Amino acid sequence: MKRVSITYKIPESGVNLLKNEYEVWINPKDKLLTKDELKELAKESDALITMLADPIDEEVLSQGKNKLKIVANYAVGYNNIDIDKAKELGIYVSNTPDVLTETTADLAWSLMLAVARRIVEADKFTREGKFDGWKPELFLGTDVYGKTLGIIGCGSIGQAVARRAKGFDMKVYYYQRHRLSKEREEELNISYLPLDELLKVSDFISLNVPLTEETYHLLDREKLSLIKKDAFVINTARGPVIDEKALYEKLKNNEIGGAAIDVYENEPKLTPGLADLKNVVLTPHIGSATHETRNKMSLMVAKDVIRALEGQVPEHVVWR
Ligand code: NAP
Ligand code: GLV
Ligand code: GLV
Repeated sequence: MKRVSITYKIPESGVNLLKNEYEVWINPKDKLLTKDELKELAKESDALITMLADPIDEEVLSQGKNKLKIVANYAVGYNNIDIDKAKELGIYVSNTPDVLTETTADLAWSLMLAVARRIVEADKFTREGKFDGWKPELFLGTDVYGKTLGIIGCGSIGQAVARRAKGFDMKVYYYQRHRLSKEREEELNISYLPLDELLKVSDFISLNVPLTEETYHLLDREKLSLIKKDAFVINTARGPVIDEKALYEKLKNNEIGGAAIDVYENEPKLTPGLADLKNVVLTPHIGSATHETRNKMSLMVAKDVIRALEGQVPEHVVWR
């Protein structure tokens, strides 16, 4: 019987499909597997379902050269996998695009509103029993409505973030390597700007690029210096896209208005001091974390595993 290994417990929707046909092993611990454990699994499994923090590098993939058919990543981002090596070894890699787009865009917007209106600080204040009546200047924040939004990486999630901005009557700019069609720009009511220009004019900046060699520290100290003093940075992409230490220093010195962050440069570690700042909202990488979406992701990885094990190309194969 073919063996499918899942490196962390995921919702049952997809797992049940797999159990009908294969021997399924699920990591029983509430902890990521070690590199040695991943290597062992790669060697003895026909298919692996992996998490975004599992380093599926050359060492791990090499163990799968005889038997492993597919690594199905339970995420849309696949920067944790050495795609070139997988291709060289003939091991498919698949991901979970689209099903998590709206959910992640909702989180980007939750973060944007939360940081602008100081929701987390205000919640803490209220819970602590400090609310002793309405005051004219209690928790003054910043308007989102009518402001300028800059989207860096206007793909599936970036465009979903842009669509939501219509209801807030925002001026929306985007930057990425390839311009969208004129029709698409008009439909979304967005305009293209080079990165430096976008950083200079935006009141809110949403990062929605994948992590690649090109996007590593896309916002480095120099780029961060272009951002307006009262603007907010929202990162639901990947931590290393921003130089987190430089961002921390700018937030601490009030050279940037605030930041709302779901992903960290050295995840799960935070830059020391970041969590002590008042002008930040921090969430633990929960962009796609809804019951509905995680169930869909579970089904998606399971179906692609089945395809690969039946000798077909997975539907969401990651080509390069
Ligand atoms: P997508 O549809 O592939 O969109 C990515 C966009 O980034 C593309 O439009 C691409 O346009 C742009 N891009 C790529 N390289 C770039 C570069 N060097 N400079 C500027 N722009 C670049 O991907 P998606 O589904 O929207 O997901 C985006 C990322 O979000 C994922 O890769 C993942 O890391 C992250 N994510 C995080 C969470 C979370 O839990 N926080 C959840 C889901 C996804 P060009 O090719 O024209 O440059
Ligand atoms: C989450 O971060 C994903 O890439 O799906
Ligand atoms: C606030 O609650 C108002 O009525 O303006």
